[in-house]
Amino acid sequence: KPIYVLNGPNLNLLGVREPEIYGYDTLADIESRCRTRLTGTGTDLVFRQSNHEGELIDWIHEARESACALIINPAGYGHTSVALLDALKALSIPVIECHLSNPQTREPFRHHSYVSLAAKGIIAGFGPIGYELAVQAVLAMLKA
Ligand code: DQA
Repeated sequence: KPIYVLNGPNLNLLGVREPEIYGYDTLADIESRCRTRLTGTGTDLVFRQSNHEGELIDWIHEARESACALIINPAGYGHTSVALLDALKALSIPVIECHLSNPQTREPFRHHSYVSLAAKGIIAGFGPIGYELAVQAVLAMLKA
């Protein structure tokens, strides 16, 4: 089964949006970093982005049957969405929360994450490399 990587709202604008915070990599660049990490491992990748909470929830439901693990950058919804948390709690596969920036060093409203309550681990503050670290963590977990 593939690893699902789900990206929340506004991440389609990566590379253009606040590059001093989020860097110059586009989401397509990040996807190819993840694919490179998986080369030769026999594990596939499903990489998606949505600006719609319900669509993200539908994909999380899909992942229950279709994924071996789920990496999610919930973006702004991490700070607001009980519904996303509830969907993630219905998963029995590992969930990894991933952020480009370190929300703990930013505005107070970014300090709380609902998604963290369902996450096995959190990677934040390393920019695009964080996604690669998350993929690596999943591979290690799958092996163990
Ligand atoms: C983010 C951090 C969130 O606080 C913010 O709303 C985002 C991106 C990150 O990757 O650093 O949209 O999830």
